[in-house]
Amino acid sequence: MKVLVTREIPEKGLDMLRARYETVINPEDRVMTKEEILADIGDADALLCLLTDRIDAEIIVAAPNLRVISNYAVGYNNIDIGHATEKGIAVTNTPGVLTETTADLAWALLMAVARRIPESDVFMRQGRFRGWAPMLMLGSDVHGKTLGIIGMGDIGTAVARRAKGFGMRVLYHNRKRRPEMEKETGAEYVPLEELMRESDYITLHVPLTPETRNMLSTEMLELMKPSAYLVNTARGEAIDEKHLIEMLRSGRIRGAALDVFQGEPLNVNPELYELNNVVLAPHIGSASLETRNEMAVMAAQAVIDVLEGKRPENLVNGVRFR
Ligand code: GLV
Ligand code: GLV
Repeated sequence: MKVLVTREIPEKGLDMLRARYETVINPEDRVMTKEEILADIGDADALLCLLTDRIDAEIIVAAPNLRVISNYAVGYNNIDIGHATEKGIAVTNTPGVLTETTADLAWALLMAVARRIPESDVFMRQGRFRGWAPMLMLGSDVHGKTLGIIGMGDIGTAVARRAKGFGMRVLYHNRKRRPEMEKETGAEYVPLEELMRESDYITLHVPLTPETRNMLSTEMLELMKPSAYLVNTARGEAIDEKHLIEMLRSGRIRGAALDVFQGEPLNVNPELYELNNVVLAPHIGSASLETRNEMAVMAAQAVIDVLEGKRPENLVNGVRFR
């Protein structure tokens, strides 16, 4: 059987596949083009792909033997799930292992923008430090402030737990209220508008779906306090990025920290590079050595399970297994 892997992932996962199947790995250190995927997928039984690959109906139709699409990510908005399900193709993701790792990054970004760490680092390296100064690099306190969490799934909850240590008031918005989580973390459920209006820090943890696309629209963003910050480690398309840039440029809000962008996989709006009040990261939410290794094992195991006729642990669509 043949497995197509669209980009090199940690060896641990690749070894599991190589031991069992003909494993074809993209030899280039870049996203495969659609033409390249189409050229390789025709006789593949399994596809291990990334969130940077758009797996649409055309690709699915071109792969008559395909039984599983194993996405090396927790989000799977890059896959045409409806079409895959229609063709009886199992779709899987890698949840769980990246929950705490992504929550760590959301906090790292929040702290970095609040306390101007990247700006301070550049300042030091430019040799501009002339000793302690009363007015140098003044940022905002984090402790004791109000944190607004949009999307209270596993990652949102992991972010809320960390907020306890900073003595923060935590507001959240989610499709459903989560009473157990409220008890554990002390987070309070509020409508989205109220969260936008009251939070000092807003962090996004929703999957990208038709409901969450442009969820933070111009109108929603305009509700933010002038002293507030926005952190996004979810998906760029959940925010009206163009308007956010306007607000950052005019000082309408104090700052933002972004790990995801509207123009992904390949483009970032270059206007962001000119703003000092934004911290940028290259989509590294799950990027720890430990987590990426675990994701590789999970994604490989999903391929093996399906090809052996077993129900994979992290099935995200309605394909039936005995
Ligand atoms: C990362 O963005 C993921 O969905 O795993
Ligand atoms: C966001 O609030 C969601 O979970 O839909």
